[in-house]
Amino acid sequence: MRTQLIFSPVSSLETELLAVLAADSQTAKALDAKPQPVLLTRDEAVKAAVAGVLAGGEFKAGANETLLVHAPAGLQAKRLLIVGVGKQAKITLSQVRNAAGTAVRFGKPRGIRELILAAPELESLPGRACVRAAVEGAFVGDFDPDAYRSNRRDQGIDLLRVAAGAGADRRQVESAFAEGGIIGESQNFARSLVNEPGNKLTPTVLGERAAAMAAEVGLKCEVYSTAKLHELKMGAFWAVSQGSAEPPALVVLRYEPAGVTDGPVLHPTNENSSAGTPVLGLVGKGITFDTGGISIKPADNMEKMKYDMAGGAAMLGAMRAIALLKPRVRVIGIVCAAENMPSGTAQKPGDVQTAMSGKTIEIINTDAEGRLVLADGLAYARQLGATHLIDAATLTGACVVALGMVNAGAFSNDDATFAKFDAALAASGEKFWRLPLGDEYADMIKSDIADIKNTGGRWGGAITAAEFLHHFAEDTPWIHLDIAGAAWIEDARPYIAKGPSGIGVRSILEWVRSY
Ligand code: BES
Ligand code: MN
Ligand code: ZN
Repeated sequence: MRTQLIFSPVSSLETELLAVLAADSQTAKALDAKPQPVLLTRDEAVKAAVAGVLAGGEFKAGANETLLVHAPAGLQAKRLLIVGVGKQAKITLSQVRNAAGTAVRFGKPRGIRELILAAPELESLPGRACVRAAVEGAFVGDFDPDAYRSNRRDQGIDLLRVAAGAGADRRQVESAFAEGGIIGESQNFARSLVNEPGNKLTPTVLGERAAAMAAEVGLKCEVYSTAKLHELKMGAFWAVSQGSAEPPALVVLRYEPAGVTDGPVLHPTNENSSAGTPVLGLVGKGITFDTGGISIKPADNMEKMKYDMAGGAAMLGAMRAIALLKPRVRVIGIVCAAENMPSGTAQKPGDVQTAMSGKTIEIINTDAEGRLVLADGLAYARQLGATHLIDAATLTGACVVALGMVNAGAFSNDDATFAKFDAALAASGEKFWRLPLGDEYADMIKSDIADIKNTGGRWGGAITAAEFLHHFAEDTPWIHLDIAGAAWIEDARPYIAKGPSGIGVRSILEWVRSY
């Protein structure tokens, strides 16, 4: 999708589809209070074109509600689409983002290849933030997962023009527009990886995709496999890969902005982690397919386990956006990619593995594999000098039981670090809910034979998994994101397709930019 920012009045522009947002300005709480849709534009010609139909009362400007007008009087557009954002008093950037996605997804199956989106003009939100959200949402809406259909159900949008409101500061709006495009494309990059089936996206291929992305945006990238895992003594990560004919891939990306880095970090810096400039370590779970291993999963829904690399994909998407948006902080991105398979060489329940940090792990269930690869990924990020850690993983079904598909889980051993992440959520619009850690939970993964075991029993499964990772983050400030529920959208919404969501990319990016 090509994008273009325009400042001219939308009523004078020729287009297949002009999309304008509308809110419900009704504030009374009375049960019989009628919705009062108002257009979020100062363009008088657009207002005049739909005054009659809005007065008719059937369009209520509810969130993502649409109304299409053909050949709108007084406008050059062939069609005018009004997209609702709900109550005017409660409008947020999420509503703007979603409405933009709704406009794109309205157009796509109707053969629309080009459209103009009028960024909303609001008292309550800055114009530049609305432009950014609109572009992000348009990219999110443009993604469909049918990559392997011979006749793709609908082609994407070729050209999106976003019209900035009158009186907006041009330079600020231009940079917000560019930012929105980078973020939206980075989120879709993550989604396209998550969408790939396990046979197409093996750990090796994931490594190749990461390297190609890194070359494109100017990140340093190294991809390692079995020999390096042995060399680094990554016994936990390797144990997951040992049952598969596909070799593992350890992806290491480095973003080192000029002036912030004085060269590669050569020494472990955790003794001085509070001193000097921060180095952020992003670690993603990259299980390209999770059968469960010897503790094999039931057949029902197992096909979905191709998305078990969504945490790794989120880190790659975030790294892409970081490389293009250039925050003044050093970032290391690590993806631990492996395939979890049962075979004659697979690890077994009861096996004991020695992680890179030296801790020993009793394997109770080979399906609790994500925490094993992350254990060594976190340790490696610390060894490379990360002073702050964030990981993302489709880690536990228990997290989905706790929070449903709405919120993803978040954990942290450091309130100040988590506060920065929490603040990032306003800009990202993503939903994460903090869950607790605690010694009582840590006790649940003590082993009779080794330092720890890889499952903690039935109750509090998302938390015992987080406590397992805590052993490897140690005292480095760390955030763990369990995206098992939110990484895959079960039912299409007006603004986003069914399939991979790309959750994490936007929040992790905003968190990084806060340093
Ligand atoms: N990848 C799964 C978690 C998952 C479940 C992701 C559902 C998305 C949807 C993970 O590797 C796993 O199998 N976890 C087990 C852990 C258990 C064996 C302690 C689980 O959640 O059942
Ligand atoms: Mn598993
Ligand atoms: Zn898994």
